[in-house]
Amino acid sequence: MKILISDKMSDKVEDVLKSKSIEYDIKTGMAPEELKSVIDQYDGILIRSATKLTAEILADCKNLKVVGRAGVGVDNVDLDTATKNKILVMNTPLGNLEATAELTIGLMFSLYRHIHLANQSTHDGKWEKSKFMGTELKGKTLGIVGFGNIGQRVAEMASVIGMKIITNSNSASDEDLSKLGASKVSTEKLLTDSDVLSLHTKLNDNTKNMLNKSSIGTMKPSAVIVNCARGGLINEADLKDCLNNDIIAGAAIDVYEKEPATENVMFGAKNLLLTPHLGASSKEAQSNVAIDVANQVADYLKENKIINNVNSF
Ligand code: MLT
Repeated sequence: MKILISDKMSDKVEDVLKSKSIEYDIKTGMAPEELKSVIDQYDGILIRSATKLTAEILADCKNLKVVGRAGVGVDNVDLDTATKNKILVMNTPLGNLEATAELTIGLMFSLYRHIHLANQSTHDGKWEKSKFMGTELKGKTLGIVGFGNIGQRVAEMASVIGMKIITNSNSASDEDLSKLGASKVSTEKLLTDSDVLSLHTKLNDNTKNMLNKSSIGTMKPSAVIVNCARGGLINEADLKDCLNNDIIAGAAIDVYEKEPATENVMFGAKNLLLTPHLGASSKEAQSNVAIDVANQVADYLKENKIINNVNSF
């Protein structure tokens, strides 16, 4: 039984595999052809987001039994092909929950108090104290798209700050909503009423480009958008236009349609705070997801124990 680790992850992954007497190889940064040529020598593969398990790479797999994603999003795995070839795909939905929620809240504070802009200005020796008069989050309305683990944790943190929480999630249960003092509204109302709109939903055909010129155009001119979920949920060119034309007041973006985003149409837009997909980048989160994914995959291969699977057959 052998596992391939094809993306950089915390050393904790090795500790778990060793403790379970599972052999592994670490080969990161492989080109797709190389990955395709070696992948089926393994029983399992552990990935983060850099490895793309496309239909082509998974197509001829007969021996590979499981893909373990150290993280939440499995948009880098072709689930149809995995399912067809009876390859179980698992994620680790809880390990980076706190890290992503904390970054989201941090970005909201930064947009509302202009921390990112004031930092550069102060480094430049300008001392622009009155230019950076901010606004408080307390009393403002936070619109959450996607009321899963991360969306709910953001809601919980924001309610402590004193924000009013609304969501358009169809799957949010009455119990979860009332626990967090949140209310369910239509997508139209979510857009028109939010002071901060934060995305925590999956990228799929229904959500792709959900924020575009026309939807953003219905938001308040004072509103800001935060996206720590997935690039592609927002039309990047449209967001740039909306920011530069004061349709909304600002945005913080951690995720991009194409990553790594060494070039991007949004670069240089007005009051746009950018970070390089740092949502899960905390020491704690990386350790959590590495331990979780190694345990889950090992337990599946050794004991056929299934948890956090995103497909089934
Ligand atoms: C996730 O899906 O878990 C996060 O976006 C972090 C990552 O891609 O590793």
